[in-house]
Amino acid sequence: MNILMVCLGNICRSPLAEGILKDKLKSSGLRAEVHSAGTSDYHVGEPADPRTIDVAKKHNIDITTHRARQFTADDFKKYDLIYAMDRSNYDKIIQLAKNEDEVQKVELYLNVSSPGSNSEVPDPYWSGKDGFEHVFRLLDHTADKLIEEIESERTKS
Ligand code: 4NP
Repeated sequence: MNILMVCLGNICRSPLAEGILKDKLKSSGLRAEVHSAGTSDYHVGEPADPRTIDVAKKHNIDITTHRARQFTADDFKKYDLIYAMDRSNYDKIIQLAKNEDEVQKVELYLNVSSPGSNSEVPDPYWSGKDGFEHVFRLLDHTADKLIEEIESERTKS
């Protein structure tokens, strides 16, 4: 299974979502590829924001090798599940979808932990440290739910 996390800059929310999920997968025994991308090209080639690296490190997750890249229509071919951090990211991804199959791969990430809520992961870029800790907690909880969901799908099939 290939999973892609998507935000705007690919330096705050999605690299953190990627790092947290990868960390949990290691201890779950499940095998999945997880990557991230941004809908913009603002930070392509850059590492994650220093505040993202710090909050991850505080929770023993190393995301220092991450480099930002932009989401492309080709990503629909490579990934089974594409998670958008907010509605604007969702709309930009959907604009690149070529068919219903591709549309179906895209979901707001927080709908995994709060089904049907259409809640957004707040953009912490303009916030202080507290914003990053809050985002960490949301993403951590949602990753737990996603792993539960993948595990229950595996046992069904
Ligand atoms: P992200 O946060 O989408 O979570 O990576 C942002 C990063 C950069 C900008 C906005 C949001 N920016 O405007 O440069």
